[in-house]
Formats: sequence, C-alpha cells, structure tokens
Amino acid sequence: MTPKTLTRSLLTLWAFAALPSAFGFSSGPPAFRAGVPGDQAGATCTACHRTFALNPDTLGKVTVTAVGYTPGVKQIVKVKVEHPQGLRWGFELTARSATNDQVMAGSFTASDSIRVVCGTGTPPCNGGLEFATHNAASNRAGTPNGVEWEMEWTPPANEIGDVIFYVAGNAADNSSTNAGDRIYNTQLRVKAGGACTLTKKPTLRSLTNAASFASVLSANTIGSVFGLDFEVAGRSRVAGSGDFVNGSFPKQLSCVAVEIGGQRAPVTYVQTDQINFQTPTISQTGPVPVTIILNPGSPNELKSDLGTVMMASYSPAFFTFNGTSIAALTADGKLFTSAKPGDVISLFGTGFGFSNPVYQSGEIVDGLAKLRDPFTVTIGGTMLVAADILYAGLAPSAISGLYQFNVKLPATLADGNVPVVITIGGVSTQATATVPVKR
Ligand code: HEC
Repeated sequence: MTPKTLTRSLLTLWAFAALPSAFGFSSGPPAFRAGVPGDQAGATCTACHRTFALNPDTLGKVTVTAVGYTPGVKQIVKVKVEHPQGLRWGFELTARSATNDQVMAGSFTASDSIRVVCGTGTPPCNGGLEFATHNAASNRAGTPNGVEWEMEWTPPANEIGDVIFYVAGNAADNSSTNAGDRIYNTQLRVKAGGACTLTKKPTLRSLTNAASFASVLSANTIGSVFGLDFEVAGRSRVAGSGDFVNGSFPKQLSCVAVEIGGQRAPVTYVQTDQINFQTPTISQTGPVPVTIILNPGSPNELKSDLGTVMMASYSPAFFTFNGTSIAALTADGKLFTSAKPGDVISLFGTGFGFSNPVYQSGEIVDGLAKLRDPFTVTIGGTMLVAADILYAGLAPSAISGLYQFNVKLPATLADGNVPVVITIGGVSTQATATVPVKR
C-alpha cells in the first residue's frame, strides 16, 4: 500500500467515522430526554439507545450533586456517570419546579464541556425549558469506569419552592453507534435553602375574612393579612403541590409564617402587603394574638408587633367575583353569566364552622364533609327546603377552608341579581351577595 492510498483509506475511514457525529448525537443528545414525567412521557436516551432497558443493573448509575439554592445565586451542579464497562459517556440534565414539572427552574451556562439546548428555539432559552448536556469534547471516548461533568446553574431569581433536577446518563461502549450503551436516570430534589434573607420588620395592619373582608374570623377560615414588608416588593408566591408538607398546605411560604393563637397557619399566597392563609383548627373565641414571622426559625427571624384578631364560632361569607356576584358554578362545574329558576348551582364561601368529619387547617379534602351545625339558605327571600340543598360542606379536592353549597334555585325567582344569604349560628353571609338570574 502506497502512502497515498493509505492516506486515502484513512480519509475514507475518518469520513465514515465522522459522519454520525456530524449529525450530532455523541456530541449531544436532543432535548426532552432527561426523564421528566411531563416531557414526552418521561422519555430518556433509551428512545434510541435500546440495547438495554433503562437502569439495567446496579453496577452503573448516574448521580447529580447540587445543594439547596439561594434565589439568583449561581452554584456548581455536578453529574457523574459510572459503569465498569463504559468507555464513552454522556448525560442530559434539567431543573424544574417541584409543583409543575413544565416550569423551568433557573438556567444553565454553556461552556467548553457543556452544551445547552432549549425545548424550543436556540439558547438563550429565556425562561423556557432547557437542558444541559455533554458535548463532543466532553464525551471522553476511551475513558474507563466513569466521568464527571461540572456546570454552572443559576437558580430562579425568586424563591419558587423545591426544585427537582432530572438527569439521564449514558455509559456507552464507545462503538460510535447507539447500540451496546447503558442508560441510567435519577432525580434530586433541593430546597430553597439560605433563601430566607428578608430584612425588614413586618407591619401587621389587619386580618380579614378573605371572602367578605369582614374582621371576624373563625376556625379553618380562609383569611388575608394586610400590612407592609411581608415580602420583597414586587415578588409574589403562590403555594403549589410542590410546597405541600405531608399532603397539606405549608405553614410557611417564601420565608413568611403567620401565627394565630400560638399556632402556625397554613399559608397559600404571599406578596409584600398581603398574605393569604387559613386560620388554625382552634375553638378559641374572642380576641386571639397574631404575629407575622419572617425568616421563621432562622437566626435572622423578624416578628411583627403583636396583633389580635377576633375569633368567633362562625364567620360565614361568600367569595365573590366583583364584590357582589357570588363565585358560583353550574352543576357541571362551569362558570355562567346567568342561571335559570330551578337550576342547580354551586356556591363557594368560607367560615361556616366545623365539618363532619373535621379536616385540619391546610388539609386537602378527599371526601364529602358536611357542615356540622344547622344552617339556613335563603334565595330571593325564599328559605330553601332541605330537598333543595343537595350538598352543604367542604369543597372536595380543595383546601379545607373552602365550603361548597349545591342548591336548587326557587322556581319563583324573578330576573335580576337575586340576593343569597346563608345563616349559621345566628351569623349571616354578607348582605350584598347575589346570583344573576334570567329566565
Ligand atoms: C434520537 C435518537 C437518540 C437519542 C434520543 C439519544 N441518542 Fe445518543 N446516539 C444516537 C446515535 C444514532 C448515536 C451514534 C452516532 C453518534 O455517535 O453520534 C448516539 C451516540 C451516543 C454516544 C456515543 C456512543 C458510543 O458508544 O460511542 C453517547 C455518549 C450518547 N449518544 C449519549 C446520549 C445520551 C446521554 C442521550 C440521552 C440524554 C442520548 N444519547 C439520546 C442517537 C440518540
């Protein structure tokens, strides 16, 4: 073989070998293969690397290392893939909100050894879904046992609750094909650690029923606190399933806690001048002490001056859309612009006392739980008979402070905004609450 033919065959060989990577798989996998349940049904690299099942043995594994995040503060995240027979390596990593796996948590920085791909479009992914992967330079062909990559992750600017890293790794056989490679996946959940850095002492101005803004509350009622400096200005936080503790709403959210009668209240929403919460399951009545606590349990804990709230046995109120029109749905769960006499509708409110069975504050209602105490429903001046009250109790699948009434509208109602009043223990819902009726 002349040197010339040698060169030519080498070139041909090289061209062959180079062809697949020109199409880019060993130099970085496609997006949506990190094993996130909501991304293409949890797809990983086994979509193409099919020789072995996912996580085929305990000799190999993929691990991800990250610590609790401080909003906006970069940290190094490490991914390691290991297997005694592996000779070439790859991975794909993403970070998502624990409440909703379709919400990206922060962003990754591309580097010499790390490639970043977006769910749609090209980087920067601008808050959209993104994935960090190995690249052509970092698949380390020929390296035995395992490799580790390091990359920079910038957490979300605001605390979004727990974050889950999802990663898939390939312990490949260095065949330059998608055969003979072992794929592993795992996940790592991290908390917003070190995130409690609120600096201003909170000012407590008032506590109200969240539905009527009345100032008397009762056990398990959904309420709002108004004041100042509860949270960094412009920042807000809604509690989601990723924040749940033992299946219940958390007793602190975004570094904010509310203490009523010596008990922490489940918190559902926080912004700088408002906190939404549910009162604890307590039977104390009369003036009860209230404190707002920031950075709870940390050395930098900040407490508001002590306030009080009037607690009663009942504080019934309807949620409304615009101050008067009751938050209501049709029997099949739809919003409506008007209901007809004789229709069955569901009305929503809070503060109707204990249910049977009793649910603790913050719990999610997983069955029927009717009102414990007697009550009346009056619509357009007509007091409903028992047969026209199909259900009165806690709203299924909701927080235990949300009450639902399925009622049949009297056949005699005239068109217009018809007043609805529920009275329990001598206390009535707000007089201004109405339902629009049209024949
Ligand atoms: C759409 C199909 C497809 C998916 C999905 C895919 N790959 Fe591949 N991959 C290939 C093909 C084809 C090759 C061989 C050609 C090449 O090397 O580019 C390959 C090769 C590789 C190699 C080199 C293999 C060897 O033995 O030399 C690595 C490493 C690799 N992929 C990692 C991954 C990782 C990690 C994932 C998942 C996060 C993944 N791939 C997902 C198609 C895919």
